Amino acid sequence: MGGKARRRRLLTSPSRRRGWQRLARGMNDVVTRAPWSWPLLRAPMRLFFERAAATWDQRFASDPARMVPLAAALDLLPAAPARVLDVGTGTGAGAILAAERWPGAEVLGIDVSPRMIDAAASKDVPPGVRFAVADVARLDPGEGWDLVVMLNMPPFFAPVAAMVRGGGHVAHIASRGPVTPFYTSAEKLGQGYGRRGLETVAAGTAGPGTYYLARRP
Ligand SMILES: C[S@@+](CC[C@H](N)C(=O)[O-])C[C@H]1O[C@@H](n2cnc3c(N)ncnc32)[C@H](O)[C@@H]1O
Repeated sequence: MGGKARRRRLLTSPSRRRGWQRLARGMNDVVTRAPWSWPLLRAPMRLFFERAAATWDQRFASDPARMVPLAAALDLLPAAPARVLDVGTGTGAGAILAAERWPGAEVLGIDVSPRMIDAAASKDVPPGVRFAVADVARLDPGEGWDLVVMLNMPPFFAPVAAMVRGGGHVAHIASRGPVTPFYTSAEKLGQGYGRRGLETVAAGTAGPGTYYLARRP
């Protein structure tokens, strides 16, 4: 068996998957409770997703049901956002959904993994979508964003809240609900964003997953 095939088998074997779920849960907790430790976690996180990029779509993103909770959250927005940031875009699913829904919007998908970004950028994406390798913890908020999408992402409360401009929203999605490796309860999301000046708009379930929506007044 060649190196690539062996790595793919290891990433997809049930025991490996359980190991990854435990690791992701641990990382999610640490990022939530001790965000100062993120610089130590960045390299192992990036390494994991660099390895996962080649088979990401085949293993996860090809299931259309996983986008149902994000679509449900976007249905709740009062107006079309002009600027959308998809944090931890992976192979671009969240950014592409937003661009298809709002063809006039400027959409940026960022990820710490260059291979994920290469996979996203190689797709035939709608106009208005860009992808870039970037860490949200180091991103300049600039003029801010009307919508920040966090699709299956640990909550980087402080930097993400800083990206949301007045009247803007953040949508947190766990595609498979509480069994999603990067899952944070609506209660914890409400507390984390509440401390940073955002107010909870809605939280619920849709399809196989959960969504949480907050707004900066
Ligand atoms: C579980 S994947 C989700 C990918 C995509 N949103 C999806 O659901 O298909 C998490 C992604 O977030 C990226 N990521 C983790 N921390 C990040 C950070 N601080 N800034 C940007 N991307 C990050 C990882 O490299 C990985 O691609």
